[in-house]
Amino acid sequence: MIFSCFLLSLSLYLRALSEHMEILKKRQPSEGKLTWSELQKMKYTWTVAQELMRFIPPVFGGFREALKDTSFGGYDIPKGWKVFWASSPTHMDKDFFADLDEFDPSRFQNPSKPIPPFSYIPFGAGAHMCIGNEFARVETLTIVHNMIMNFEWSEVNPDEMITCQPMPYPSMGLPIRIKERITSE
Ligand code: HEM
Repeated sequence: MIFSCFLLSLSLYLRALSEHMEILKKRQPSEGKLTWSELQKMKYTWTVAQELMRFIPPVFGGFREALKDTSFGGYDIPKGWKVFWASSPTHMDKDFFADLDEFDPSRFQNPSKPIPPFSYIPFGAGAHMCIGNEFARVETLTIVHNMIMNFEWSEVNPDEMITCQPMPYPSMGLPIRIKERITSE
């Protein structure tokens, strides 16, 4: 089990690394910094982030208010009641996600079955959906690009658990051993 997890994380890492190496190879010396069009090429890296947010949603849910008497899943919900939508159980519903216990970023690129609307909700959904979701994507990809291109690292505590306080957080603060990456031209 530990060995298969190690192999999985190694293969995810190597594939993401090659995506970023490819971007760097095509960068003109005059361009220097990361560009908008390069960010659009980080498709695999974003599917890894999406799958991570399916497993461990950064926000566990939120409240909505019933505007009229309604019913859902066999429950009657009177007008004015508060309803809590929760991302984790939604992301772990086998009606929406095939092989849901498998960490499989490809489900966001070539899904074996389409993900229905309102089923993948790390940024919420509807009128109050996160307005920063695109910005969060750009921030995530920029950080990953700079980390993966400039450094190599390993976890000090590979078995470190994630705790919720209430946002998910590495329980020991995620100490890492880090060194500069030496890339040959
Ligand atoms: C990975 C990063 C982020 C996650 C997972 C996240 C998640 C969420 C979620 C779940 C909601 C509630 C949506 C709903 O009720 O349907 C929300 C709302 C919101 N988020 Fe984010 N967010 C992220 C980053 C950001 C950033 C970077 C910004 C701003 C720059 C931002 C601004 C907002 C705002 C203003 C709302 C309230 C929207 C409204 O009520 O109409 N978020 N976010």
